Amino acid sequence: MKIAVIGSGYVGLVSGACLADFGHEVTCVDKDEGKITKLQNGEMPIFEPGLADLVANNVDAGRLSFSTDLPSSIQGAKAIFIGVGTPSRRGDGYADLSYVYSVASEIAASLNEPAVIVTKSTVPVGTGDEVERIIRESGTTSKFSVVSNPEFLREGAAIGDFKRPDRIVIGVEDEFGKQVMGEVYRPLFLNQSPIHFTSRRSAELIKYGANAFLATKITFINEMADLCERAGGNVQEVARGIGLDNRIGPKFLNAGPGYGGSCFPKDTMALLKTAEDYGSPLQLIEAVVKVNESRKRAMGRKVIDIMGGAEAARGKKVALLGLTFKPNTDDMRDSPALAVAQALTDAGVELVAFDPEGMENAQPMMPHVTMSNSPYAAITGADAIVLITEWDEFRALDLERVKELARESVMVDLRNVYDPAEMRAAGFTYVSIGR
Ligand code: UDX
Ligand code: UDX
Repeated sequence: MKIAVIGSGYVGLVSGACLADFGHEVTCVDKDEGKITKLQNGEMPIFEPGLADLVANNVDAGRLSFSTDLPSSIQGAKAIFIGVGTPSRRGDGYADLSYVYSVASEIAASLNEPAVIVTKSTVPVGTGDEVERIIRESGTTSKFSVVSNPEFLREGAAIGDFKRPDRIVIGVEDEFGKQVMGEVYRPLFLNQSPIHFTSRRSAELIKYGANAFLATKITFINEMADLCERAGGNVQEVARGIGLDNRIGPKFLNAGPGYGGSCFPKDTMALLKTAEDYGSPLQLIEAVVKVNESRKRAMGRKVIDIMGGAEAARGKKVALLGLTFKPNTDDMRDSPALAVAQALTDAGVELVAFDPEGMENAQPMMPHVTMSNSPYAAITGADAIVLITEWDEFRALDLERVKELARESVMVDLRNVYDPAEMRAAGFTYVSIGR
């Protein structure tokens, strides 16, 4: 099937490459000429494991191409995916839908064959209706259907998530849309991935509901971790004990510095706004957002405390290991590292950092931080080490070397990577989360 994907960012590019790999003929479109030129030259605009090879293989096979020309790219396409960004609108936290709507108008202007327009961008409930209205009012005479097909891709594991999903959600209002989407995802159907057909509005709500629930699960265990610290428990033992209950499940119960990334923070905010507008406020999610926001900065205070308080910390040097919001990505959006670094900078602490992939994106967002070329370079002369992101290369640091290079053997492990007893035995002053 011929498919066009509009928006070749994180979601658009991964989706386009995977659909091509299923055997479809895919054109990924973006208005950013620099990005398209890069892709045409085989360079990836983002870091995502396996993506460069997947793109190269499908380009070589003649199934995947890149273009800035939307009108020509949608000619003959039976499915047209919209994967442009829906960032938080500056000032009010609503999802900014202007890109989605302008792409819908552009599609409508060039639509002259039957096609299904598929919203993959995360959009508030009711957006599909508006996209449908825009296209209908454009006066197109082509048969079309507007479908909601939310993505559930985790950065760093996006290709696996696309190809082996827990489920595919398709919100559709008519037979034509249902039939075309069935064809698009037939390869996964053969893999026995469940396809869940719903109404369009339900699909839009499922996406926000899933993200809000996961954000709640993380926030719950983070607060339990705080209680463990006060009451004397180990949050990892507690999480395992809770998660072994099948009704709860073990995933997303890792306590840490608070969730970040391109989705949870903006999607929880957008869901709150939508809920308010419908006169049905989500008080639980309001609490989650508030707790998570204050937690990120509180992690900075945790570091200052172990350094002996604000007075003692001023002028000292702290090494930050890991800056991205999670490992295996170069994405810095809403990373807890930003709040931790800001709290420490505000307290007059000097910061040196290392991240395997994120430093280029991080530097403009944290101009006061000096970037290093290895974890050991960052640690050299540090009065404390803060492990913020659990990259594999931080899991087995040479602790003897760390002790020699650092000025003080102090580690704040915000991801519970190390064992407290072993760290103490190795001579470290060590704090972690909820243990
Ligand atoms: C995606 C989804 O779209 C968002 O709704 C979801 O919640 C998270 O993932 P993402 O892929 O991360 O967003 O966004 P981004 O990497 O910013 O990519 C969007 C792309 O769309 C950019 O390359 C941008 O140039 C392109 N774009 C935007 C267009 O081609 N046309 C436009 O009109 C607007
Ligand atoms: C998320 C959803 O998982 C995905 O389904 C959706 O489509 C997009 O948003 P992503 O943002 O890539 O994916 O990362 P995810 O692995 O969910 O982690 C989000 C944040 O939560 C990270 O900051 C991570 O460190 C944190 N987290 C996750 C925890 O603190 N503890 C956990 O147990 C899990």
